[in-house]
Amino acid sequence: MEERSLISPEVLVPRLGEQLVEAGLLSAGQLRQALAHQRQSAAAGTPLLLGDALIELGLLDRPTLNRAVTEQILRLRQALEDANRNLEARVQQRTAELEEALRKLSELNQLKANFIANISHELRTPLTHIRGYLELMQGEGLGDLNEEQKKAIEVSFRATARLQNLIDDLILFSQASHGEMTLTLRPVHLPQLAQAATRQAHHKAEEKKISLSLEIQPGITHAQADYEKLGWVLSQLLDNAIKFTHPGGQVTLSLSTEPKTDTIIHITVTDTGIGISPEKITEIFEPFHQLDGSATRRYGGTGLGLALVREIVEAHGSLIEVQSEIGKGTQISFPLLVAKEN
Ligand SMILES: Nc1ncnc2c1ncn2[C@@H]1O[C@H](COP(=O)(O)OP(=O)(O)OP(=O)(O)O)[C@@H](O)[C@H]1O
Ligand SMILES: [Mg+2]
Repeated sequence: MEERSLISPEVLVPRLGEQLVEAGLLSAGQLRQALAHQRQSAAAGTPLLLGDALIELGLLDRPTLNRAVTEQILRLRQALEDANRNLEARVQQRTAELEEALRKLSELNQLKANFIANISHELRTPLTHIRGYLELMQGEGLGDLNEEQKKAIEVSFRATARLQNLIDDLILFSQASHGEMTLTLRPVHLPQLAQAATRQAHHKAEEKKISLSLEIQPGITHAQADYEKLGWVLSQLLDNAIKFTHPGGQVTLSLSTEPKTDTIIHITVTDTGIGISPEKITEIFEPFHQLDGSATRRYGGTGLGLALVREIVEAHGSLIEVQSEIGKGTQISFPLLVAKEN
């Protein structure tokens, strides 16, 4: 079936001459004679159909020829129908195979998301205990602490905070992959949120000797957004910008409106960092995807940040735009709708 379907219908039907010989209406010698006559006529500039050549040579009468031609047409039609059926069957088979592959893939994604959801909830519980005891110790509820012990608890606290963040990201990610991410949209005062995010990132920037600034175009107030999730987006974008910029660089969070309309506010994070090559720009939004293994080990993180940033921004009905140049820096921006009533 496979092989036959690769052959075109006319190959499956004998040519007229062969068919006449097969049917015993013509001998092989007579066919050769007629073909020779056909070649001569063509060479003389008066091409002839084989049937006409046979009639001219008196080897066949017109009614027999007509019957043979009709039979050939019928066989050709039959072969064509077979080929079509064959093709349809193959298309059906391929479609079924593709559907099966797709089903397996979404099952796998579902499993992955369930696994992540389960494991992150499992991680949360022991972490709560650890934090609880650390707090107790820090408050000297379990006895007085010397300087060294205080320092150790401080470091442990920071580590649990990092773990907490990672678990929160994983939970958000599994919700997003279940299509369960819900937004609570309300007017959010963007300058306040941007200030809070910059304040939060200030420490990291200072540590890396990166100058962090906030630029807010006058008149910008509220946008329709989910306060918590938008705050998270800003902190992720600032985190990346600081992480992928060398000391001495500059990171800017800016809020601006379009010159002609006042219904849209653009939120933009710009850095003077390592940049992203144009063909890699779509990759950075894939979950767990990090561009450079060695850089990632150096910079840390799991590669979930931007995947979630995109989910959240798109859940707001917006789209992220990335402009970047290797060695020059990156600009990531997305628009939000101004909130009607504040
Ligand atoms: N501002 C940027 N400049 C250069 N590369 C960037 C920038 N932002 C993101 N990238 C690239 O995109 C990848 C994915 O970013 P993403 O935020 O999803 O992950 P991450 O920061 O590595 O880890 P996580 O955010 O989970 O801590 C990064 O590993 C990095 O290679
Ligand atoms: Mg990140």
